Amino acid sequence: MKYIISGTDRPDSNTLKISKHIQSVYHSLGEQVEIIDLKELKKHLHDDIHYGKTSDAMKPYLDKVLSSEGLIVVCPEYNGSMPGILKYFIDHLKFPESFEFRPVCFVGLGGMFGALRPVEHLQQVFGYRNAYVYPERVFIMNVHKILTAEGLVQDELIKQLLEKQAKGFKKFTEALGAFKIDANALIEQKKQK
Ligand SMILES: Cc1cc2nc3c(=O)[nH]c(=O)nc-3n(C[C@H](O)[C@H](O)[C@H](O)COP(=O)(O)O)c2cc1C
Repeated sequence: MKYIISGTDRPDSNTLKISKHIQSVYHSLGEQVEIIDLKELKKHLHDDIHYGKTSDAMKPYLDKVLSSEGLIVVCPEYNGSMPGILKYFIDHLKFPESFEFRPVCFVGLGGMFGALRPVEHLQQVFGYRNAYVYPERVFIMNVHKILTAEGLVQDELIKQLLEKQAKGFKKFTEALGAFKIDANALIEQKKQK
């Protein structure tokens, strides 16, 4: 299973709308993908968890990351950076297992620069944590213009870019899995030692 991290807790978020579109793209490729919506887990993040010592309420979310065959991080730009809750979530994940040798790809959305700044910062963070960062990113500029009133993506180029990324990321995760050099294979090998 792959997971899409919808990187904000803002109500009526465009990030969640884009995440749902990405989920449908992966489904059309025959992939199993679920969304981790930070809005959903927000209350547990604040009340129940203390950096690595997890609560029962948070465990299902943390386990999803820990077992994922790939993460798709969808990140909006807030004041030239990523939303605080996304970094806060990242900081609560178990390390190194959550990201080490785990395939990850990025989609940014925002105004003029399509969240180039937070995505590049996320690449640093995940690079630091030894994730396998898929190189092809998608930046969605002026995101409010490419969504319909119902929250559907109406821009053909963006649709094509998201589909191309999804196809590439699917191959990327399959290739790493085939050689058993991805995070899940390495966690399994450690258990058997
Ligand atoms: C708190 C806040 C700060 C923002 N800062 C920026 C910014 O620095 N650069 C930018 O291009 N867009 C910025 N925007 C626009 C958002 O990236 C855009 O509205 C996007 O849809 C936000 O994602 P969301 O709808 O999931 O919250 C900001 C929006 C919010 C709510």
